[in-house]
Amino acid sequence: MTVRSSFVVVANRLPVDEVTTPEGRGWRRSPGGLVTALHPVLAQHKGTWVGWAGGVGSAPEPFDLEGIRLHPVPLSSEELERYYEGQSNATIWPLYHDAVETPVFKRRWREAYRIVNARFAEAAAEVAAEGATVWVQDYQLQLVPAMLRELRPDLRIGFFLHIPFPPIELFMQMPLRAEVLRGLLGADLVGFQQRLAAQNFVRLARHLLGLRYEGQTIEVDGRRVKAGAFPISIDVAEMERMATDPSVQARAKQIRAELGDPKTIVLGVDRLDYTKGIERRLKAFRELLADGKLSVPDAVMVQVATPSRERVEHYQALRVKVEREVGRINGEFGRVGVPAVHYLHQSYSRSELAALYSAADVMMVTPLRDGMNLVAKEYVATRADTGGSLVLSEFAGAATELRQAFLCNPHDPEGVKDALLRAVHVDSVEARRRMRIMQRHLRTHDVGHWARSFLNELGVPEAA
Ligand code: ADP
Ligand code: G6P
Repeated sequence: MTVRSSFVVVANRLPVDEVTTPEGRGWRRSPGGLVTALHPVLAQHKGTWVGWAGGVGSAPEPFDLEGIRLHPVPLSSEELERYYEGQSNATIWPLYHDAVETPVFKRRWREAYRIVNARFAEAAAEVAAEGATVWVQDYQLQLVPAMLRELRPDLRIGFFLHIPFPPIELFMQMPLRAEVLRGLLGADLVGFQQRLAAQNFVRLARHLLGLRYEGQTIEVDGRRVKAGAFPISIDVAEMERMATDPSVQARAKQIRAELGDPKTIVLGVDRLDYTKGIERRLKAFRELLADGKLSVPDAVMVQVATPSRERVEHYQALRVKVEREVGRINGEFGRVGVPAVHYLHQSYSRSELAALYSAADVMMVTPLRDGMNLVAKEYVATRADTGGSLVLSEFAGAATELRQAFLCNPHDPEGVKDALLRAVHVDSVEARRRMRIMQRHLRTHDVGHWARSFLNELGVPEAA
């Protein structure tokens, strides 16, 4: 029997990882901030999360985990290739990130995107109780709000886009443009990371569909659709707790020692994605070594690059470029047993990441474009000792809030080098002052605050 919920989250991925235990295969809640933020609301409403469980072929039966109902949606291997790798991650992802890589447009990808979005909408329609609230997440599912409204006009529907929403000229390149826009307009509230993105959206509605808007509210078929900015955040308390945990502190010390106790550890932590500006960051480090402004072993760099979307060509090409650059730097500036860059193409536990953040003197977050960038916020929250400096791209959503970072334009190599040097040489009193201001901001703007703001605006009273 289908369990019906008054609160439903729909996202491409379910917030669980499959694990093997001595008792057999099972599921564990994944450590993401989104599920942490939504967990209380989901638990309180006997909520359901609709999403893909990973893998291809038939999906597992719906199951309960820690008070949440998980409702898996299947993907075939062809859909994985066309809907997920193709339309989502080779068309929409690059296009929405300022086309920093050339978006690829393919008819069969669009068709798969439609089919899979319809499947998610049908699953949500099946599990939502009469008058329920359904919150759809991110660029993989932009057609779902309108499809769901068609099936279930009684629902209250929210949509949140975690990535940037592009300016009109870029959006207009997309062959599926009107359908995507109408898809989003199926929601009652469409949330973005930035005010500018919300503005792009309302202007696009007028430009492409001739719709009228006032402020951030668009009129569609006699309905009112609100757009707004809701910058996402992290579980700040959890991050602070982890940073002060003695075992994490001990691990941070050990990491420093293993790196040869250098004066300066420069850290990068990203998915291996071309939007993150990893190559340019490495190049800036190389040039500073070449100029003699930094030297090994006084300064070393650690770059963690989580494997991501590995079958998509753009990502394969990026990996080659990044690894070539790492090899070049180590070839020129490393010594036996003392590399200049420690490159780790691996995933880590939350506590290992917290230890890395604690160990780093300078954190480099230099995306060419990023909806928010949670790594920047995690670094700030981890510096309970208020030391350390953050170099942050102006093109990360986080730059709107973290004004005390060393901001830079990642397209300008001199600007990146200058910001990195200033971050390396800043005196500790000034570094602590900057960190403290940013930490204070994050404490009142954590991921719970984000979820409550969105749900309040959507009119979910219990979210207050
Ligand atoms: P994106 O969502 O584009 O990947 P964000 O910076 O917003 O970028 O979020 C990345 C999330 O993934 C952060 O919570 C970060 O801690 C986590 N993460 C990044 N690299 C790793 C890694 N190597 N191992 C585990 N988690 C990682
Ligand atoms: C970004 C996107 C998410 C996505 C995540 C990981 O944060 O906004 O929607 O889940 O990257 O990417 P993946 O393709 O592995 O789900």
